[in-house]
Amino acid sequence: MKFNHELVEKNIGLMAIFIVIAISFGGLVQIVPLMFQKDTTEPVANLRPYTALELEGRDIYIREGCYGCHSQMIRPMRAETERYGHYSVAGESVWDHPFQWGSKRTGPDLARVGGRYSDEWHRIHLIDPRAVVPESNMPGYPWLEENILDGKYTAKKVQAMQTLGVPYSQADIDGAEQAVKGKTEMEALIAYLQSLGHALK
Ligand code: HEC
Repeated sequence: MKFNHELVEKNIGLMAIFIVIAISFGGLVQIVPLMFQKDTTEPVANLRPYTALELEGRDIYIREGCYGCHSQMIRPMRAETERYGHYSVAGESVWDHPFQWGSKRTGPDLARVGGRYSDEWHRIHLIDPRAVVPESNMPGYPWLEENILDGKYTAKKVQAMQTLGVPYSQADIDGAEQAVKGKTEMEALIAYLQSLGHALK
């Protein structure tokens, strides 16, 4: 039986259905293998789960909308790798739920900011960015220094990550509350920032 092209070409409804099928197939062929490739699904060798304090810090990063101005994804282009270091690979983010890749860069990429500055630099910068970078237009976050973590939900957060496949132990969950209780939000956020970008050697 010969396929009737004329029928499809003269019927826009039918044509639309076939176009959708063709494009979906093309998309799936590209996307589905990525879900099973070791490169994109396995953690890189040195990746470790966030500590309880870093995990709380990450939640503050999300709450304060830092991702609105900062990406955490270094692209494989020379201008980027010379400024920020090795380009980001998927295996660095497999335990990040949700990942913080971002898409807007009012400020620099933070994927490898860990260790670039001292804790004290971050503290001064987060309270008043212009105290260390006079031309900065980043807002200050002085309240982070005053807000104290009570750790009430920290164990639950660690447990939620475990459910999503992050390899936390029962001891990590049991110790989570004590690990953050009494610390400031500032300490948590800085711990998170300092943890970024060390997994890839
Ligand atoms: C309105 C946009 C904006 C927001 C929101 C913002 N930043 Fe920034 N950030 C900047 C800009 C611009 C710079 C570059 C100037 C400077 O260092 O202050 C910067 C710089 C930084 C740096 C230094 C990076 C480097 O490599 O020198 C860090 C760390 C940082 N921001 C963390 C944060 C955190 C954490 C938050 C959320 C609490 C945040 N930023 C929110 C705009 C922003």
